[in-house]
Amino acid sequence: MGGQTSNNIALPLFRSNVKILGTSPEMIDTAENRFKFSRMLDRLGVDQPEWKELTSMDEARSFCNRVKYPVLVRPSYVLSGAAMNTVYSEHDLALYLGQAVEVSKEHPVVITKYIEGAKEIEMDAVARGGTMVGHFISEHVENAGVHSGDATLILPPQDLDPETIRRIEEATRKIGDALNITGPYNIQFIAKDNDIKVIECNVRASRSTPFVSKVMGCDLIEMATKAMAGIPIQPYPKLNIPADYVGVKVPQFSFSRLSGADPVMGVEMASTGEVACFGKDKYEAYLKGLIATGFKLPKKNVLFSIGSYKDKIEMLPSVKTLFKLGFKIFATAGTADFLTENDIEVQFLEALQDDQQRNEFSLTHALANNLIDLYINLPSANRFRRPANYMSKGYRTRRMAVDYQTPLVTNVKNAKILIEGIARNYDLAIGKYDCQTFAEVTDISAGAPKPEDLPSLREMLVRSPFKNKDIVSVKQFTRDDLHLLFTVAAEMRLGVEREGCLDILKGRVLGMLFFEPSTRTSCSFDAAMKRLGGETIIVNESHSSTKKGEDLDDTIRTLDQYTDAIVLRHPDNESADIAAKASDGSIINAGNGSREHPTQAFLDLFTIREELGTVNGLTITFTGDLKYGRTVHSLCELLRHYNVQIQLASPAALAIPSKVRAALQARGQLLIESDTLTPEMLAKTDVLYCTRVQKERFEDQALYEEVKDAFVVDGKTLKQAKESMIVMHPLPRNAELSKEVDDDPRAAYFRQVSHHPISIESSRREKIY
Ligand code: NCD
Repeated sequence: MGGQTSNNIALPLFRSNVKILGTSPEMIDTAENRFKFSRMLDRLGVDQPEWKELTSMDEARSFCNRVKYPVLVRPSYVLSGAAMNTVYSEHDLALYLGQAVEVSKEHPVVITKYIEGAKEIEMDAVARGGTMVGHFISEHVENAGVHSGDATLILPPQDLDPETIRRIEEATRKIGDALNITGPYNIQFIAKDNDIKVIECNVRASRSTPFVSKVMGCDLIEMATKAMAGIPIQPYPKLNIPADYVGVKVPQFSFSRLSGADPVMGVEMASTGEVACFGKDKYEAYLKGLIATGFKLPKKNVLFSIGSYKDKIEMLPSVKTLFKLGFKIFATAGTADFLTENDIEVQFLEALQDDQQRNEFSLTHALANNLIDLYINLPSANRFRRPANYMSKGYRTRRMAVDYQTPLVTNVKNAKILIEGIARNYDLAIGKYDCQTFAEVTDISAGAPKPEDLPSLREMLVRSPFKNKDIVSVKQFTRDDLHLLFTVAAEMRLGVEREGCLDILKGRVLGMLFFEPSTRTSCSFDAAMKRLGGETIIVNESHSSTKKGEDLDDTIRTLDQYTDAIVLRHPDNESADIAAKASDGSIINAGNGSREHPTQAFLDLFTIREELGTVNGLTITFTGDLKYGRTVHSLCELLRHYNVQIQLASPAALAIPSKVRAALQARGQLLIESDTLTPEMLAKTDVLYCTRVQKERFEDQALYEEVKDAFVVDGKTLKQAKESMIVMHPLPRNAELSKEVDDDPRAAYFRQVSHHPISIESSRREKIY
């Protein structure tokens, strides 16, 4: 419910079996993990600014050239004090990535297209079981690019197009539904010409939640808490706010106490507090808020220093207004010329002249002697704040204003609303708006947005390329097929989480023909079928007519008569092909000898995406029985669709089959093959994929005894590994994976089983349709 700290600990707590109320921590992670969130938005048809994670200067340069500057660069590793920054040119990109931050495979940077001149809009909502029960939209005064903590917020929004509002509500509804939110959430949007894009979604209360709750007289936190605790709530309660009533939240800065800091706003938050006030309109509420932060309104002398031509043009009407009101206008060189050309009488001030300047024209003198009541300094666009920038004239004059306690405005939108407010000449005495009690109830509730339907699970299944196909080898599938599979799997999981059981496979029967033992795979298929409303017929070799001499062909033909599809596990390498030929229905290969195990490999990929957000860029290390381990063969083959590096560690006798190795090598994915798991290999590993030594495949049991404990992953192994690494194992495990690993948060193998009881394997049922 609270700030980021609670979100950060939610998933580790959940994984340690702590019961978490409200939105599932896995969904919180889906919102916070850039890759998962981005995929989810794509699926929902909700737009986002283009972004990419990049690991080299060349990649960064070509991405930026494609999306065009400016861009927002978020480093993962900072060399100097610089952090996230907007970059306006290739030159600055090279400087920034060369001097200030590192870009490498170990320390990728995330670059996002930065959309200039866009409005930023804040959504605070509460949902229950994925359905919105309350929401408020507030509008930022400043354009996008100012951190939302530093932004001035207006509520209700005054300047938003109804179509923009409708799209924002619709996107919020879809996101709440997809994340199955129960509790509060906050989404930041940017809007330009009614096109909206999501910048981020926080599945928690936001900085603006108390503000919107107070202004609208509707306590979103109370609603969210009740929703999370399962206490009944009234969705969209009626509101009772006066007509002509606006709340504005103004940031409080403490630049005077931060000696040397540049008092400008940017993508990093700089404010230390905030004040909100009410008013008849946004100007009045803004002025009151600003005064409450300690800002003094100007009486006579206003100084302008406006960097860009665009800002000069935008400010011109406001400067004229002040001039007409009788204010004395001062300006630095370029600005003074511009204003004079536009018929405004200006007193020129020289910014920081070294030689003796006549006091009359000295900006330093004017600021030092408190001759300026308000300094409007609008820096020009290049905000790449390399250290040298701190010495710019603009910075020095801004800093001087702060140090002499001259009111300073550095944002064009703030300057405009302030001047308009001054011009309106409000009586700022405490009035009836300044205190709200929200007693009576009248209906001005905006209500819930009307749903726009996404393709349902059923529709996705109907369009599925898996329909009526055999699944014998992972080689059959394209990357798009995999994506569809993952989407369907995620939707099924969500549906089951909500409803317990679905009915999409009602009337369908799955035959499960297991000629080898299985716990995980057979339970997964059986449970999935049942959760999705279907039935299973389970046939084990020991109970089948195989014992009487029936061949596989005949067993399949017989089972075919009773079922829509058959899952087959068999010790023969050719079994899946034989079955596919014999069956009129669909064969799903759940292990054919030592060859392949497509369904496990799909689940493994799904798990990596769930755990780490993305498969791309990872180093995956396989250990154990790489010769007979069919899950390894299938997963290695599926990884052809991704940009990964693969490390192989096995006893020489259990080395990976030459065909699989050759394919990895041909793709340039094989980083190292070794008969020990070295500390260097471990240090690089993002996914450690352990496998059981496949006793049943050994002709020579003495050899099995020799190699069975060659690789043991235990607590010591984990000490040498990355904190973010995950340990996977298809199960069952023997001694190769010590039980002491089980309690480590990096152990993903039981999580894979328990969290995805119907995940990938169940989604294969779609082919039954
Ligand atoms: C694997 C298998 O059967 O290939 N397990 C599984 O399907 N979950 C691995 C094994 O048996 O070691």
